[in-house]
Amino acid sequence: MQIIKTVSAMQGMRRGRARTACVPTMGNLHPGHLDLVRIAQQHAGEVVVTLFVNRLQFLPGEDFESYPRTFEADCAALEAAGVQTLFAPTDAELYPEPQVFRTLPPPALADDLEGQFRPGFFTGVATVVNKLFNIVAPDVAVFGKKDYQQLMVIRQMVRQLALPIDIIAGETVRAADGLALSSRNGYLSDTERAQAPFLRQTLTKTGAAAGAELRAGRADLADIEQHACEALRNAGWVPDYVAVRKQSDLQSPSAQDSEVVVLGAARLGGTRLIDNLELSL
Ligand code: PAF
Repeated sequence: MQIIKTVSAMQGMRRGRARTACVPTMGNLHPGHLDLVRIAQQHAGEVVVTLFVNRLQFLPGEDFESYPRTFEADCAALEAAGVQTLFAPTDAELYPEPQVFRTLPPPALADDLEGQFRPGFFTGVATVVNKLFNIVAPDVAVFGKKDYQQLMVIRQMVRQLALPIDIIAGETVRAADGLALSSRNGYLSDTERAQAPFLRQTLTKTGAAAGAELRAGRADLADIEQHACEALRNAGWVPDYVAVRKQSDLQSPSAQDSEVVVLGAARLGGTRLIDNLELSL
């Protein structure tokens, strides 16, 4: 595998090469990331994985400094997966001057749900992904559905900026007990790890209750969402939100909508976990 650390070397590789798929990551790779690589390999002859812990998407006080950095292990995993190219710039290489130009997602999408609790997060994500796309110039890019709202922000960015890139979604990869794989799961103590599948279980129950309401023609799901937060609180979590939304635009569903997604975010001890569950009614 070729490891590229400078923007100019990465851009130099673009000429005359095969159809290319990009898998943007912040490293600390787990089987969920490797599944995105596998999907990328199905769509293109050349796969470029990017590894960059993007300070723009961390709020002050969040875990930018302590975010797990496991470069050697990540390289070994990517080599074993048959990845040809890893683009792993330093902070100074990607942001040689303050990144004052930003890619600003629409507030209706970016200030809701995750954006309400992590203001500016999606601007940071959109800015770095736009920049990485300009450097790698992929034909295809693969993102996980675990970060459901992020996937939607990127799809909308690519569409509205007419970027010639197909965005492909990878299903969330889960541990045997249902916990969605995430680099932040490593922050959980053994006791918290045992409790962590409760978020997924709560979303599943919420989905069943919301589905019954929508099928009965009732679209006010506020009580059901509050009940889910209450259940999390009673189990020792600090919920940010549990919300039932349309898959198409993450707005609240009407009784006619059949494709919905239940999204949730909650803290267990010092760790903030997110998850979601798509439902076809
Ligand atoms: O999902 C992530 O790991 C990050 O948000 C991404 C897309 C690599 C941008 O930094």
